[in-house]
Amino acid sequence: MNATLVSNLGWYPASWRGHRARQMPEYADESAVRAVEARLEGSAPVIRIEEASRLRELVADLAGGRGFLLQGGDCAESFDDPVAEQVAGIVGLFDAMADRLRPNVVGPLVETARIAGQFAKPRSAQEETHDGVTLPAYRGDIVNGIEFDANARRPDPQRMIRAHMQSVGTAASLSAARGAGAPIFTSHEALLLPYEEPLTRRDSAGRWWATSGHMLWLGDRTRQLDSAHVEYLRGIENVVGVKCGPTLGADELSSLIDRLDPLGRNGKLVLIGRFGAKRIGELLPPLLRATKGRPVVWTIDPMHGNTSMSGKRKVRRLPDILAEVDGFFAIARAEGVYPAGVHLEMSALDVTECIGGRGPASIDELEKNWLTACDPRLNRAQAIDLAAHVAALLA
Ligand code: PEP
Ligand code: CO
Repeated sequence: MNATLVSNLGWYPASWRGHRARQMPEYADESAVRAVEARLEGSAPVIRIEEASRLRELVADLAGGRGFLLQGGDCAESFDDPVAEQVAGIVGLFDAMADRLRPNVVGPLVETARIAGQFAKPRSAQEETHDGVTLPAYRGDIVNGIEFDANARRPDPQRMIRAHMQSVGTAASLSAARGAGAPIFTSHEALLLPYEEPLTRRDSAGRWWATSGHMLWLGDRTRQLDSAHVEYLRGIENVVGVKCGPTLGADELSSLIDRLDPLGRNGKLVLIGRFGAKRIGELLPPLLRATKGRPVVWTIDPMHGNTSMSGKRKVRRLPDILAEVDGFFAIARAEGVYPAGVHLEMSALDVTECIGGRGPASIDELEKNWLTACDPRLNRAQAIDLAAHVAALLA
């Protein structure tokens, strides 16, 4: 590596390679991966650095206790998504949710979709078994195919090229739909580092930005202090989200913040709690206390901690989701912390993936219109009702 490309904190876009990278696919042909990386290095950025910088300013406002971050979208995007329809759908859904929220938000409503790059999924199990056949787990369309067949499940580096092309198209449609005045920013989990590294670019001042999305987040399964993912995310200027799950201790969170953002940059870190309605009361207060006085923003993901299994199907219930949101607002306020946003898995379609409210009444109804490639999402009506619920909490 050319010494002039190494930042003063010893970071460079490939420095993650010196750390343990969990949740990464094992590609059979390393030279094919190198060729894809080289091609991505010469490819168009998905987003513009100026826009990512604008999001940093908006999140800095949130850190000052004003405004609200609405973040949401699919658990996983798919190569089968009809892009124009998907973008129209998510824009319409954000519009409807913003209509509910805006009257009660003092300051900017910051809209950020899980879109234009949300293709890689961490998995709890490496493998999946059906009828006695065991194959590698599906890791998102950017890695392998969802079909339960040996060929589809083989990780294929060419999928990174396809994900990039689809993301460029999706991001362009999204900015055409809303324009610069009322943007919907893009975000995804920074999981597949061979995809992220070549899309990391410098601005005119020499600072590094991820151009794969405006905001990237660190998943709950890859947030170990010494991890390759933490190493990558500490060096970029983008807003970085950190999923904070039940096993994260207060000291560990302090160390993680020191590592990701030693300089305390304003608008840099968004902490995203995801504990489950039953446990948030016990788990969140010590974390809030550990981050007092730091320029971080706290939001809640009420989806991932409220997931149970019914056979092979993931089950989420709207009352649990709302209860975690309520708990978040009450606890944050009791601790003197500004509840700055929500992070949701939601669809603009009338899917039947979460139980309750204006959705399926029971597990038996889930199969009617179950379309997700990964986790269950709120349907359009459930998402709008949740926005109204949050608006009432903000009033
Ligand atoms: C996700 O947001 O889809 C996800 C996998 O979340 P977490 O890392 O919090 O489990
Ligand atoms: Co998910």
